[in-house]
Amino acid sequence: VSEKRAIVVGASSGIGAALVERLVEQGWTVAAVARREDRLRSTAEKHSGKVLPFPHDVTNYAEAPRLFQEITKQLGGLDMIIYASGAMPPVDLEEYDFDKDRQMIEVNVLGAIAWLNQAAMRFGAAGHGTIVGIGSVAGDRGRRGQPVYNASKACLATYLEALRNRLARKGVTVVTVKPGPVKTEMTQHLALNRALTAEQAADLILKKASRSGEHYLALPHRVIFAVIRLLPSWIMRRLKL
Ligand SMILES: NC(=O)c1ccc[n+]([C@@H]2O[C@H](COP(=O)([O-])OP(=O)(O)OC[C@H]3O[C@@H](n4cnc5c(N)ncnc54)[C@H](OP(=O)(O)O)[C@@H]3O)[C@@H](O)[C@H]2O)c1
Repeated sequence: VSEKRAIVVGASSGIGAALVERLVEQGWTVAAVARREDRLRSTAEKHSGKVLPFPHDVTNYAEAPRLFQEITKQLGGLDMIIYASGAMPPVDLEEYDFDKDRQMIEVNVLGAIAWLNQAAMRFGAAGHGTIVGIGSVAGDRGRRGQPVYNASKACLATYLEALRNRLARKGVTVVTVKPGPVKTEMTQHLALNRALTAEQAADLILKKASRSGEHYLALPHRVIFAVIRLLPSWIMRRLKL
């Protein structure tokens, strides 16, 4: 493709910000969407004309359709959208905080649906395009530590599976990536084992983005999570996973 135009939602830090950098290196023009306008603007200044900043809160659902149209107009088309916005506030084992839970569902699920529905309509009509959602290995099972984060990523993966099944015959690629631990602001309070850098994650995600389906980023994860997905719940409880 000569023209490569992408939207990255959640472009202001971590994996999304690294994706923007990689896409620009690979010749893409990128619309960068997130709340922190200062960060988007400094990326846009660094890559003059190649990164267009669009400050937006994904929980402002009513704004998504109009902003999506505005962005595709400014880019002169659209070839790929990556939804990377996500929230995972720290949650204690005894904590049931509805405000945190709502934030995770709003950012990880409803914001994704608001944006990716727009892309699905456009790409479906055009018979072309790639939709990438960032799920997580954490969405494969319900675990003690993060009930609603787990549920939000499971919901995202199921929604994307359905989009894939709707859009495959129209020539649209729909990709769910399921990273394991990545060192970002989201995980800075955690002691992570064998975590990727955001740049490593971005490279792997872009490699996976050419093929419809669900992808883990590491081969061992494919094997380990195939087993974890099959474990009976009573074993999950015993293992305290
Ligand atoms: N880090 C990991 O270990 C890991 C593992 C698996 C999957 N993931 C997923 O990877 C994605 C990126 O996370 P990250 O690790 O790179 O964390 P991060 O650095 O905290 O990035 C989160 C991004 O989401 C955006 N965001 C949050 N709330 C938003 C809102 N209301 N409106 C618009 N954008 C919003 C943030 O932008 P603003 O705050 O500027 O709005 C930021 O750009 C998330 O979906 C996360 O669940 C992460």
